[in-house]
Amino acid sequence: MSDRTFYVTTPIYYVNDAPHIGHGYTTTMGDVLTRWHRQRGERVWYLTGVDEHGQKVLRKAEANGVDPQEWVDGLVEREWKPMLETIDAANDDFIRTSEERHQVGVQAFWQRLQDNGAVYKGEFSGWYSVGSEEFVGDDDVKDGEGDDAGHKVSALDGSRLEHMTETNYFFRLGDYQQQLLDFYEAHPDFIAPASARNEVVSFVSRGLTDLSISRSTFDWGIGVPWDDDHIFYVWIEALLNYVTAIGYGDDEARFEELWPADVHIVGKDIVRFHAIIWPAMLMAAGLPIPHRVFAHGWILVGGEKMSKSKANGIHPNEIVATFGSDAYRYYFSRALTFGNDGSISWEDIGARYHAELANGLGNLASRAAAMVAKYFDGQLPASGETTEAEQAVIDLVRQATADAEAAIDAVAPHDAVASVWRVVDALNGYVTEQQPWQVAKDESQRDRLGTILNTTVEGLRALAVLLHPVIPKATRVLWQSVGGQRLGDLADQRVADAPRWGQIPVGTPIVKTAPLFPRIELGD
Ligand code: MSP
Repeated sequence: MSDRTFYVTTPIYYVNDAPHIGHGYTTTMGDVLTRWHRQRGERVWYLTGVDEHGQKVLRKAEANGVDPQEWVDGLVEREWKPMLETIDAANDDFIRTSEERHQVGVQAFWQRLQDNGAVYKGEFSGWYSVGSEEFVGDDDVKDGEGDDAGHKVSALDGSRLEHMTETNYFFRLGDYQQQLLDFYEAHPDFIAPASARNEVVSFVSRGLTDLSISRSTFDWGIGVPWDDDHIFYVWIEALLNYVTAIGYGDDEARFEELWPADVHIVGKDIVRFHAIIWPAMLMAAGLPIPHRVFAHGWILVGGEKMSKSKANGIHPNEIVATFGSDAYRYYFSRALTFGNDGSISWEDIGARYHAELANGLGNLASRAAAMVAKYFDGQLPASGETTEAEQAVIDLVRQATADAEAAIDAVAPHDAVASVWRVVDALNGYVTEQQPWQVAKDESQRDRLGTILNTTVEGLRALAVLLHPVIPKATRVLWQSVGGQRLGDLADQRVADAPRWGQIPVGTPIVKTAPLFPRIELGD
Protein backbone atom coordinates (compact mmCIF):
# COMPACT_ATOMS: atom_id res chain seq x y z
CA MET A 1 0.00 0.00 0.00
CA SER A 2 1.41 3.41 -0.91
CA ASP A 3 1.70 6.22 1.62
CA ARG A 4 -0.60 8.41 -0.39
CA THR A 5 -4.19 8.79 0.66
CA PHE A 6 -6.65 9.31 -2.18
CA TYR A 7 -8.74 12.28 -1.11
CA VAL A 8 -12.23 12.75 -2.62
CA THR A 9 -14.69 15.55 -1.83
CA THR A 10 -18.23 16.58 -2.67
CA PRO A 11 -19.43 20.17 -2.60
CA ILE A 12 -20.85 21.16 0.76
CA TYR A 13 -24.56 21.64 0.25
CA TYR A 14 -26.61 24.64 1.30
CA VAL A 15 -28.87 23.87 4.22
CA ASN A 16 -31.69 26.11 3.10
CA ASP A 17 -33.80 23.05 2.47
CA ALA A 18 -33.92 19.25 2.42
CA PRO A 19 -31.70 17.34 -0.04
CA HIS A 20 -32.92 16.17 -3.43
CA ILE A 21 -31.53 13.58 -5.81
CA GLY A 22 -29.27 16.19 -7.46
CA HIS A 23 -27.32 16.39 -4.21
CA GLY A 24 -27.69 12.65 -3.78
CA TYR A 25 -26.20 12.15 -7.24
CA THR A 26 -22.97 13.99 -6.49
CA THR A 27 -22.56 12.18 -3.18
CA THR A 28 -23.36 8.78 -4.68
CA MET A 29 -20.85 9.17 -7.47
CA GLY A 30 -18.16 10.34 -5.07
CA ASP A 31 -18.99 7.29 -2.99
CA VAL A 32 -18.68 4.86 -5.88
CA LEU A 33 -15.28 6.32 -6.71
CA THR A 34 -14.23 6.16 -3.08
CA ARG A 35 -15.28 2.57 -2.65
CA TRP A 36 -13.61 1.55 -5.90
CA HIS A 37 -10.30 3.04 -4.81
CA ARG A 38 -10.67 1.30 -1.45
CA GLN A 39 -11.34 -1.96 -3.25
CA ARG A 40 -8.03 -1.44 -5.02
CA GLY A 41 -6.38 -1.44 -1.61
CA GLU A 42 -5.68 2.28 -1.59
CA ARG A 43 -6.12 4.41 1.48
CA VAL A 44 -8.99 6.80 0.77
CA TRP A 45 -10.54 9.76 2.54
CA TYR A 46 -14.02 10.83 1.50
CA LEU A 47 -15.35 14.15 2.71
CA THR A 48 -18.81 15.62 2.38
CA GLY A 49 -20.75 18.15 4.41
CA VAL A 50 -22.93 21.22 4.47
CA ASP A 51 -22.62 24.92 3.78
CA GLU A 52 -24.55 26.71 6.48
CA HIS A 53 -23.82 30.39 6.07
CA GLY A 54 -24.85 33.07 3.57
CA GLN A 55 -27.98 35.03 2.81
CA LYS A 56 -29.86 32.20 1.14
CA VAL A 57 -29.86 30.12 4.31
CA LEU A 58 -30.39 33.17 6.52
CA ARG A 59 -33.46 34.30 4.58
CA LYS A 60 -34.95 30.83 4.65
CA ALA A 61 -34.52 30.66 8.42
CA GLU A 62 -36.04 34.12 8.81
CA ALA A 63 -38.96 33.21 6.59
CA ASN A 64 -39.59 30.30 8.95
CA GLY A 65 -39.26 32.50 11.99
CA VAL A 66 -36.27 30.68 13.46
CA ASP A 67 -32.74 31.59 14.35
CA PRO A 68 -30.37 30.48 11.55
CA GLN A 69 -28.32 28.21 13.79
CA GLU A 70 -31.45 26.47 14.97
CA TRP A 71 -32.63 26.15 11.37
CA VAL A 72 -29.43 24.50 10.15
CA ASP A 73 -29.10 22.29 13.23
CA GLY A 74 -32.59 20.93 12.62
CA LEU A 75 -32.11 20.28 8.92
CA VAL A 76 -28.68 18.73 9.29
CA GLU A 77 -29.91 16.22 11.86
CA ARG A 78 -33.29 15.52 10.28
CA GLU A 79 -32.31 15.55 6.64
CA TRP A 80 -28.69 15.85 5.60
CA LYS A 81 -27.05 13.28 7.82
CA PRO A 82 -29.86 10.73 7.27
CA MET A 83 -29.48 11.18 3.50
CA LEU A 84 -26.03 9.62 3.77
CA GLU A 85 -27.57 6.53 5.36
CA THR A 86 -30.31 6.49 2.76
CA ILE A 87 -27.88 6.29 -0.12
CA ASP A 88 -25.44 4.12 1.84
CA ALA A 89 -22.54 6.55 1.60
CA ALA A 90 -19.27 5.49 3.21
CA ASN A 91 -17.90 8.98 3.86
CA ASP A 92 -15.11 9.37 6.40
CA ASP A 93 -16.06 12.82 7.60
CA PHE A 94 -18.92 15.29 7.45
CA ILE A 95 -18.11 18.95 7.86
CA ARG A 96 -20.45 21.73 8.90
CA THR A 97 -19.26 25.28 8.31
CA SER A 98 -20.58 26.43 11.68
CA GLU A 99 -18.11 24.07 13.39
CA GLU A 100 -15.24 25.55 15.32
CA ARG A 101 -12.57 23.70 13.29
CA HIS A 102 -13.85 25.41 10.16
CA GLN A 103 -14.12 28.88 11.64
CA VAL A 104 -10.63 28.73 13.09
CA GLY A 105 -9.11 27.49 9.82
CA VAL A 106 -10.94 30.08 7.72
CA GLN A 107 -9.76 32.93 9.91
CA ALA A 108 -6.18 31.66 9.91
CA PHE A 109 -6.19 31.30 6.12
CA TRP A 110 -7.51 34.78 5.37
CA GLN A 111 -5.34 36.38 8.03
CA ARG A 112 -2.40 34.91 6.14
CA LEU A 113 -3.62 36.46 2.88
CA GLN A 114 -4.33 39.77 4.58
CA ASP A 115 -0.81 39.72 6.01
CA ASN A 116 0.80 39.01 2.65
CA GLY A 117 -1.01 41.81 0.85
CA ALA A 118 -3.49 39.73 -1.17
CA VAL A 119 -6.46 41.59 0.40
CA TYR A 120 -7.50 45.28 0.39
CA LYS A 121 -10.52 47.32 1.44
CA GLY A 122 -12.75 48.91 -1.19
CA GLU A 123 -16.24 49.78 -2.27
CA PHE A 124 -18.44 47.21 -4.00
CA SER A 125 -21.28 48.35 -6.15
CA GLY A 126 -22.93 45.80 -8.38
CA TRP A 127 -25.26 42.84 -8.75
CA TYR A 128 -25.64 39.86 -6.47
CA SER A 129 -27.63 36.65 -6.76
CA VAL A 130 -28.75 35.39 -3.38
CA GLY A 131 -30.06 32.21 -5.05
CA SER A 132 -26.58 31.21 -6.17
CA GLU A 133 -24.70 33.41 -3.66
CA GLU A 134 -22.75 34.94 -6.50
CA PHE A 135 -21.57 38.38 -7.62
CA VAL A 136 -22.61 38.84 -11.23
CA GLY A 137 -20.68 41.09 -13.59
CA ASP A 138 -22.56 43.73 -15.61
CA ASP A 139 -22.09 41.75 -18.82
CA ASP A 140 -24.12 38.90 -17.35
CA VAL A 141 -27.09 40.98 -16.18
CA LYS A 142 -30.30 40.89 -18.18
CA ASP A 143 -33.94 41.86 -17.80
CA GLY A 144 -36.14 39.25 -16.23
CA GLU A 145 -39.26 37.85 -17.87
CA GLY A 146 -42.42 36.17 -16.60
CA ASP A 147 -42.30 35.95 -12.79
CA ASP A 148 -39.08 37.95 -12.87
CA ALA A 149 -40.44 40.82 -14.98
CA GLY A 150 -39.29 44.12 -13.55
CA HIS A 151 -36.21 42.50 -12.00
CA LYS A 152 -32.72 41.88 -13.27
CA VAL A 153 -31.67 38.26 -13.63
CA SER A 154 -28.33 36.49 -14.09
CA ALA A 155 -27.51 35.33 -17.59
CA LEU A 156 -25.44 32.56 -15.97
CA ASP A 157 -28.31 30.69 -14.34
CA GLY A 158 -31.45 32.82 -14.56
CA SER A 159 -31.46 33.61 -10.83
CA ARG A 160 -32.89 36.95 -9.68
CA LEU A 161 -30.39 39.71 -8.90
CA GLU A 162 -30.24 42.44 -6.28
CA HIS A 163 -28.19 45.58 -6.52
CA MET A 164 -25.86 46.18 -3.61
CA THR A 165 -23.39 48.84 -2.56
CA GLU A 166 -21.15 47.95 0.36
CA THR A 167 -17.73 48.65 1.74
CA ASN A 168 -15.99 45.31 1.51
CA TYR A 169 -12.65 43.59 1.54
CA PHE A 170 -11.37 42.37 -1.80
CA PHE A 171 -9.09 39.55 -2.84
CA ARG A 172 -6.71 40.42 -5.70
CA LEU A 173 -8.11 37.72 -7.96
CA GLY A 174 -7.34 39.84 -11.02
CA ASP A 175 -3.62 39.32 -10.39
CA TYR A 176 -3.93 35.58 -10.97
CA GLN A 177 -5.12 35.48 -14.56
CA GLN A 178 -1.82 34.50 -16.13
CA GLN A 179 -0.82 32.17 -13.31
CA LEU A 180 -4.14 30.34 -13.67
CA LEU A 181 -3.86 30.06 -17.44
CA ASP A 182 -0.32 28.73 -17.08
CA PHE A 183 -1.52 26.26 -14.50
CA TYR A 184 -4.35 24.98 -16.73
CA GLU A 185 -1.89 24.49 -19.55
CA ALA A 186 0.64 22.67 -17.42
CA HIS A 187 -2.09 20.47 -15.88
CA PRO A 188 -4.43 19.49 -18.67
CA ASP A 189 -6.30 17.08 -16.38
CA PHE A 190 -7.04 19.68 -13.73
CA ILE A 191 -10.54 20.43 -15.06
CA ALA A 192 -12.67 17.70 -16.59
CA PRO A 193 -14.59 17.03 -18.72
CA ALA A 194 -13.33 19.06 -21.70
CA SER A 195 -16.51 21.14 -21.88
CA ALA A 196 -15.94 22.43 -18.34
CA ARG A 197 -12.28 23.04 -19.03
CA ASN A 198 -13.05 25.06 -22.16
CA GLU A 199 -15.61 27.15 -20.32
CA VAL A 200 -13.17 27.98 -17.55
CA VAL A 201 -10.22 28.71 -19.83
CA SER A 202 -12.26 31.05 -22.00
CA PHE A 203 -13.71 32.80 -18.95
CA VAL A 204 -10.28 33.41 -17.44
CA SER A 205 -8.85 34.46 -20.81
CA ARG A 206 -11.34 37.32 -20.92
CA GLY A 207 -9.79 38.74 -17.74
CA LEU A 208 -10.57 38.51 -14.04
CA THR A 209 -11.71 41.22 -11.67
CA ASP A 210 -10.92 41.34 -7.98
CA LEU A 211 -13.38 39.51 -5.77
CA SER A 212 -15.33 40.90 -2.85
CA ILE A 213 -14.65 38.56 0.06
CA SER A 214 -16.62 40.13 2.87
CA ARG A 215 -20.12 41.34 3.67
CA SER A 216 -21.13 43.94 6.21
CA THR A 217 -24.93 44.17 6.02
CA PHE A 218 -25.80 40.94 7.87
CA ASP A 219 -23.91 38.79 10.33
CA TRP A 220 -24.71 35.13 9.60
CA GLY A 221 -21.19 33.98 8.75
CA ILE A 222 -17.63 33.80 9.99
CA GLY A 223 -16.17 37.05 11.33
CA VAL A 224 -13.27 38.73 9.54
CA PRO A 225 -10.55 38.55 12.22
CA TRP A 226 -9.14 42.02 11.58
CA ASP A 227 -12.48 43.86 11.31
CA ASP A 228 -15.47 43.19 13.56
CA ASP A 229 -17.93 44.81 11.18
CA HIS A 230 -17.41 42.21 8.46
CA ILE A 231 -18.11 38.55 7.89
CA PHE A 232 -16.62 36.52 5.06
CA TYR A 233 -18.49 36.09 1.80
CA VAL A 234 -19.97 32.59 1.97
CA TRP A 235 -18.11 31.06 -1.00
CA ILE A 236 -14.63 32.05 0.03
CA GLU A 237 -15.11 30.39 3.40
CA ALA A 238 -17.06 27.40 2.08
CA LEU A 239 -14.29 26.43 -0.35
CA LEU A 240 -11.94 26.25 2.59
CA ASN A 241 -13.90 23.31 4.03
CA TYR A 242 -11.70 21.07 1.91
CA VAL A 243 -8.69 22.07 3.99
CA THR A 244 -10.24 22.93 7.36
CA ALA A 245 -11.74 19.44 7.56
CA ILE A 246 -8.32 17.82 7.31
CA GLY A 247 -6.45 19.87 9.87
CA TYR A 248 -5.42 23.07 8.10
CA GLY A 249 -4.10 25.52 10.71
CA ASP A 250 -4.54 22.92 13.43
CA ASP A 251 -3.01 19.55 12.60
CA GLU A 252 -0.22 20.07 10.09
CA ALA A 253 0.76 16.40 9.90
CA ARG A 254 -2.77 15.36 9.00
CA PHE A 255 -3.06 18.18 6.51
CA GLU A 256 0.21 17.24 4.81
CA GLU A 257 -0.90 13.63 4.56
CA LEU A 258 -4.13 14.43 2.72
CA TRP A 259 -3.59 17.64 0.83
CA PRO A 260 -3.87 18.27 -2.10
CA ALA A 261 -7.21 16.63 -2.87
CA ASP A 262 -7.20 14.08 -5.68
CA VAL A 263 -10.62 14.97 -6.95
CA HIS A 264 -13.24 17.55 -6.13
CA ILE A 265 -16.54 16.26 -7.52
CA VAL A 266 -18.82 19.20 -8.30
CA GLY A 267 -21.84 20.00 -10.44
CA LYS A 268 -21.08 22.08 -13.53
CA ASP A 269 -22.93 25.04 -11.97
CA ILE A 270 -20.09 25.58 -9.55
CA VAL A 271 -17.06 24.68 -11.61
CA ARG A 272 -15.87 28.30 -11.86
CA PHE A 273 -15.67 28.64 -8.10
CA HIS A 274 -13.62 25.47 -7.89
CA ALA A 275 -11.43 25.96 -10.92
CA ILE A 276 -10.78 29.72 -10.75
CA ILE A 277 -11.33 31.25 -7.32
CA TRP A 278 -10.21 28.20 -5.35
CA PRO A 279 -6.84 27.64 -7.06
CA ALA A 280 -6.15 31.39 -6.97
CA MET A 281 -6.78 31.40 -3.21
CA LEU A 282 -4.42 28.47 -2.79
CA MET A 283 -1.78 30.14 -4.96
CA ALA A 284 -2.02 33.27 -2.81
CA ALA A 285 -1.51 31.15 0.30
CA GLY A 286 1.34 29.16 -1.25
CA LEU A 287 -0.55 25.86 -0.93
CA PRO A 288 -0.65 23.03 -3.49
CA ILE A 289 -3.54 22.95 -5.97
CA PRO A 290 -5.85 19.89 -6.11
CA HIS A 291 -5.22 17.35 -8.84
CA ARG A 292 -8.63 17.48 -10.42
CA VAL A 293 -11.98 19.20 -10.44
CA PHE A 294 -14.58 17.02 -12.11
CA ALA A 295 -17.79 18.76 -13.16
CA HIS A 296 -20.78 16.52 -13.72
CA GLY A 297 -23.97 17.51 -15.49
CA TRP A 298 -27.44 18.11 -14.22
CA ILE A 299 -30.21 15.71 -13.51
CA LEU A 300 -33.12 16.83 -15.60
CA VAL A 301 -36.71 16.13 -14.74
CA GLY A 302 -39.17 16.89 -17.51
CA GLY A 303 -36.27 18.46 -19.44
CA GLU A 304 -35.43 21.02 -16.73
CA LYS A 305 -32.66 21.12 -14.15
CA MET A 306 -34.14 19.62 -11.05
CA SER A 307 -34.16 21.96 -8.08
CA LYS A 308 -36.22 22.53 -5.01
CA SER A 309 -37.16 26.06 -6.02
CA LYS A 310 -38.75 24.78 -9.23
CA ALA A 311 -40.76 22.32 -7.16
CA ASN A 312 -39.48 19.41 -9.23
CA GLY A 313 -37.10 18.25 -6.51
CA ILE A 314 -37.30 14.55 -5.71
CA HIS A 315 -36.05 13.40 -2.32
CA PRO A 316 -33.67 10.39 -2.41
CA ASN A 317 -36.02 8.61 0.03
CA GLU A 318 -38.72 8.52 -2.61
CA ILE A 319 -36.61 6.25 -4.81
CA VAL A 320 -34.79 4.30 -2.12
CA ALA A 321 -38.03 3.43 -0.30
CA THR A 322 -39.24 1.52 -3.35
CA PHE A 323 -36.06 0.19 -4.94
CA GLY A 324 -33.50 0.14 -2.12
CA SER A 325 -30.16 1.92 -1.86
CA ASP A 326 -28.29 -0.50 -4.10
CA ALA A 327 -30.68 0.00 -6.99
CA TYR A 328 -30.52 3.76 -6.43
CA ARG A 329 -26.72 3.71 -6.58
CA TYR A 330 -26.72 1.41 -9.57
CA TYR A 331 -29.22 3.49 -11.48
CA PHE A 332 -27.41 6.79 -11.12
CA SER A 333 -24.03 5.21 -11.85
CA ARG A 334 -25.25 3.34 -14.88
CA ALA A 335 -28.01 5.28 -16.56
CA LEU A 336 -26.35 8.72 -16.70
CA THR A 337 -23.07 9.65 -18.35
CA PHE A 338 -21.00 11.32 -15.65
CA GLY A 339 -20.15 14.74 -17.05
CA ASN A 340 -23.30 15.15 -19.17
CA ASP A 341 -26.83 16.23 -18.33
CA GLY A 342 -29.24 13.35 -18.14
CA SER A 343 -32.93 12.73 -17.74
CA ILE A 344 -34.32 10.25 -15.29
CA SER A 345 -37.76 8.78 -14.93
CA TRP A 346 -39.53 6.41 -12.59
CA GLU A 347 -40.32 4.09 -15.53
CA ASP A 348 -36.66 3.93 -16.50
CA ILE A 349 -35.60 3.12 -12.94
CA GLY A 350 -38.21 0.36 -12.77
CA ALA A 351 -37.24 -1.04 -16.16
CA ARG A 352 -33.53 -1.18 -15.37
CA TYR A 353 -34.22 -2.61 -11.94
CA HIS A 354 -36.08 -5.54 -13.39
CA ALA A 355 -34.08 -6.13 -16.56
CA GLU A 356 -30.58 -5.60 -15.24
CA LEU A 357 -30.59 -6.13 -11.49
CA ALA A 358 -33.39 -8.63 -10.90
CA ASN A 359 -33.17 -10.65 -14.14
CA GLY A 360 -29.59 -9.97 -15.19
CA LEU A 361 -27.66 -10.38 -11.96
CA GLY A 362 -30.16 -11.64 -9.39
CA ASN A 363 -31.47 -14.55 -11.46
CA LEU A 364 -28.01 -15.63 -12.50
CA ALA A 365 -26.94 -15.85 -8.86
CA SER A 366 -30.01 -17.76 -7.77
CA ARG A 367 -29.88 -20.16 -10.71
CA ALA A 368 -26.23 -20.93 -10.04
CA ALA A 369 -26.86 -21.65 -6.36
CA ALA A 370 -29.95 -23.72 -7.18
CA MET A 371 -28.08 -25.88 -9.70
CA VAL A 372 -25.14 -26.48 -7.38
CA ALA A 373 -27.68 -27.50 -4.73
CA LYS A 374 -29.52 -29.80 -7.07
CA TYR A 375 -26.62 -31.49 -8.84
CA PHE A 376 -23.77 -31.29 -6.32
CA ASP A 377 -25.45 -31.22 -2.90
CA GLY A 378 -24.69 -27.54 -2.57
CA GLN A 379 -20.93 -27.93 -2.80
CA LEU A 380 -18.79 -26.25 -5.41
CA PRO A 381 -17.78 -28.88 -8.01
CA ALA A 382 -14.29 -28.97 -9.48
CA SER A 383 -13.68 -27.59 -12.94
CA GLY A 384 -12.65 -30.31 -15.37
CA GLU A 385 -11.13 -29.68 -18.76
CA THR A 386 -12.04 -26.24 -20.05
CA THR A 387 -13.14 -25.33 -23.56
CA GLU A 388 -13.13 -22.15 -25.57
CA ALA A 389 -16.39 -21.16 -23.94
CA GLU A 390 -14.83 -21.06 -20.45
CA GLN A 391 -11.74 -19.32 -21.77
CA ALA A 392 -13.92 -16.64 -23.33
CA VAL A 393 -15.53 -15.96 -19.94
CA ILE A 394 -12.15 -15.83 -18.19
CA ASP A 395 -10.70 -13.51 -20.83
CA LEU A 396 -13.71 -11.24 -20.67
CA VAL A 397 -13.45 -10.86 -16.90
CA ARG A 398 -9.81 -9.86 -17.29
CA GLN A 399 -10.59 -7.35 -20.02
CA ALA A 400 -13.65 -5.93 -18.26
CA THR A 401 -11.62 -5.41 -15.08
CA ALA A 402 -8.88 -3.57 -16.97
CA ASP A 403 -11.44 -1.42 -18.77
CA ALA A 404 -13.24 -0.59 -15.54
CA GLU A 405 -9.98 0.38 -13.86
CA ALA A 406 -9.16 2.75 -16.71
CA ALA A 407 -12.65 4.23 -16.54
CA ILE A 408 -12.30 4.91 -12.82
CA ASP A 409 -8.99 6.67 -13.44
CA ALA A 410 -10.76 8.85 -15.99
CA VAL A 411 -13.56 9.57 -13.46
CA ALA A 412 -16.05 7.76 -15.69
CA PRO A 413 -17.88 5.50 -13.22
CA HIS A 414 -20.70 4.92 -15.73
CA ASP A 415 -18.15 3.33 -18.08
CA ALA A 416 -16.74 1.26 -15.24
CA VAL A 417 -20.17 -0.15 -14.40
CA ALA A 418 -20.94 -0.77 -18.07
CA SER A 419 -17.66 -2.68 -18.44
CA VAL A 420 -18.40 -4.88 -15.46
CA TRP A 421 -21.91 -5.48 -16.70
CA ARG A 422 -20.50 -7.10 -19.82
CA VAL A 423 -19.55 -9.93 -17.49
CA VAL A 424 -23.14 -10.26 -16.22
CA ASP A 425 -24.38 -10.48 -19.79
CA ALA A 426 -21.64 -12.86 -20.88
CA LEU A 427 -22.23 -15.22 -17.95
CA ASN A 428 -25.95 -15.29 -18.68
CA GLY A 429 -25.16 -16.06 -22.30
CA TYR A 430 -22.70 -18.76 -21.24
CA VAL A 431 -25.23 -20.53 -19.01
CA THR A 432 -27.91 -20.34 -21.70
CA GLU A 433 -25.59 -21.81 -24.31
CA GLN A 434 -24.03 -24.51 -22.14
CA GLN A 435 -27.43 -25.69 -20.88
CA PRO A 436 -26.21 -27.33 -17.68
CA TRP A 437 -29.73 -28.72 -17.07
CA GLN A 438 -29.35 -30.78 -20.27
CA VAL A 439 -25.79 -31.81 -19.48
CA ALA A 440 -27.03 -32.99 -16.08
CA LYS A 441 -29.19 -35.63 -17.75
CA ASP A 442 -26.12 -37.50 -18.95
CA GLU A 443 -24.23 -39.14 -16.08
CA SER A 444 -21.08 -39.48 -18.24
CA GLN A 445 -20.93 -35.66 -18.45
CA ARG A 446 -20.50 -35.04 -14.70
CA ASP A 447 -17.13 -33.42 -15.28
CA ARG A 448 -18.53 -31.12 -17.90
CA LEU A 449 -21.40 -30.14 -15.60
CA GLY A 450 -18.90 -29.38 -12.83
CA THR A 451 -16.86 -27.22 -15.18
CA ILE A 452 -19.88 -25.17 -16.23
CA LEU A 453 -21.09 -24.56 -12.68
CA ASN A 454 -17.61 -23.89 -11.34
CA THR A 455 -17.06 -21.31 -14.07
CA THR A 456 -20.40 -19.66 -13.34
CA VAL A 457 -19.71 -19.44 -9.62
CA GLU A 458 -16.19 -18.10 -10.19
CA GLY A 459 -17.66 -15.46 -12.50
CA LEU A 460 -20.12 -14.50 -9.77
CA ARG A 461 -17.25 -14.27 -7.30
CA ALA A 462 -15.48 -11.81 -9.59
CA LEU A 463 -18.71 -9.84 -10.00
CA ALA A 464 -19.19 -9.58 -6.23
CA VAL A 465 -15.78 -7.92 -5.96
CA LEU A 466 -16.15 -5.65 -8.98
CA LEU A 467 -19.67 -4.54 -8.10
CA HIS A 468 -19.11 -4.09 -4.39
CA PRO A 469 -18.36 -0.34 -4.80
CA VAL A 470 -21.68 0.15 -6.58
CA ILE A 471 -24.10 -2.23 -4.87
CA PRO A 472 -22.49 -2.90 -1.50
CA LYS A 473 -25.47 -4.62 0.14
CA ALA A 474 -26.40 -7.08 -2.61
CA THR A 475 -22.78 -8.04 -3.20
CA ARG A 476 -22.41 -8.98 0.46
CA VAL A 477 -25.26 -11.44 0.01
CA LEU A 478 -23.72 -12.68 -3.23
CA TRP A 479 -20.39 -13.10 -1.50
CA GLN A 480 -22.05 -15.29 1.10
CA SER A 481 -23.81 -17.24 -1.64
CA VAL A 482 -20.60 -18.11 -3.50
CA GLY A 483 -18.84 -19.11 -0.29
CA GLY A 484 -16.67 -16.01 -0.42
CA GLN A 485 -16.04 -15.94 3.30
CA ARG A 486 -13.55 -18.78 2.73
CA LEU A 487 -11.46 -16.10 1.00
CA GLY A 488 -11.98 -13.45 3.66
CA ASP A 489 -14.09 -10.33 3.90
CA LEU A 490 -15.45 -8.93 0.66
CA ALA A 491 -14.05 -5.48 1.45
CA ASP A 492 -10.57 -7.03 1.58
CA GLN A 493 -10.73 -8.52 -1.91
CA ARG A 494 -8.71 -6.59 -4.47
CA VAL A 495 -9.96 -5.46 -7.86
CA ALA A 496 -6.72 -6.61 -9.45
CA ASP A 497 -7.30 -10.16 -8.13
CA ALA A 498 -10.88 -10.40 -9.35
CA PRO A 499 -9.92 -12.05 -12.68
CA ARG A 500 -7.71 -14.67 -11.00
CA TRP A 501 -9.61 -17.90 -11.67
CA GLY A 502 -10.21 -20.83 -9.36
CA GLN A 503 -10.10 -19.02 -6.03
CA ILE A 504 -13.01 -20.69 -4.28
CA PRO A 505 -11.93 -24.10 -2.94
CA VAL A 506 -13.71 -27.11 -4.41
CA GLY A 507 -16.33 -28.38 -1.98
CA THR A 508 -17.13 -24.93 -0.56
CA PRO A 509 -20.84 -24.70 0.33
CA ILE A 510 -22.70 -22.58 -2.20
CA VAL A 511 -25.65 -21.06 -0.43
CA LYS A 512 -29.13 -20.34 -1.72
CA THR A 513 -30.00 -16.86 -0.43
CA ALA A 514 -33.02 -14.63 -0.67
CA PRO A 515 -33.22 -13.00 -4.13
CA LEU A 516 -30.65 -10.20 -4.50
CA PHE A 517 -33.25 -7.99 -6.16
CA PRO A 518 -36.80 -9.22 -5.57
CA ARG A 519 -39.37 -8.24 -8.15
CA ILE A 520 -41.29 -5.12 -7.24
CA GLU A 521 -44.91 -4.46 -8.08
CA LEU A 522 -44.95 -0.95 -9.50
CA GLY A 523 -48.31 0.75 -9.41
CA ASP A 524 -49.25 3.50 -11.85
N1 MSP B 1 -22.85 25.46 -1.15
C1 MSP B 1 -22.47 25.45 -2.52
C2 MSP B 1 -21.25 24.57 -2.74
C3 MSP B 1 -20.05 24.95 -1.93
S1 MSP B 1 -18.72 23.86 -2.19
C4 MSP B 1 -17.44 24.60 -1.45
C5 MSP B 1 -23.62 24.93 -3.36
N2 MSP B 1 -24.53 24.18 -2.72
S2 MSP B 1 -25.84 23.53 -3.37
O1 MSP B 1 -26.62 23.02 -2.28
O2 MSP B 1 -26.47 24.45 -4.24
O3 MSP B 1 -25.34 22.26 -4.13
C6 MSP B 1 -24.85 22.38 -5.39
C7 MSP B 1 -24.46 21.00 -5.89
O4 MSP B 1 -25.55 20.08 -5.79
C8 MSP B 1 -24.15 21.04 -7.37
O5 MSP B 1 -22.86 21.46 -7.65
C9 MSP B 1 -24.35 19.61 -7.73
O6 MSP B 1 -23.24 18.88 -7.28
C10 MSP B 1 -25.58 19.24 -6.91
N3 MSP B 1 -26.82 19.50 -7.65
C11 MSP B 1 -27.83 20.35 -7.32
N4 MSP B 1 -28.82 20.23 -8.24
C12 MSP B 1 -28.49 19.31 -9.16
C13 MSP B 1 -29.10 18.70 -10.26
N5 MSP B 1 -30.31 19.02 -10.67
N6 MSP B 1 -28.42 17.74 -10.91
C14 MSP B 1 -27.18 17.30 -10.51
N7 MSP B 1 -26.59 17.85 -9.48
C15 MSP B 1 -27.16 18.90 -8.82
O7 MSP B 1 -23.64 25.19 -4.54
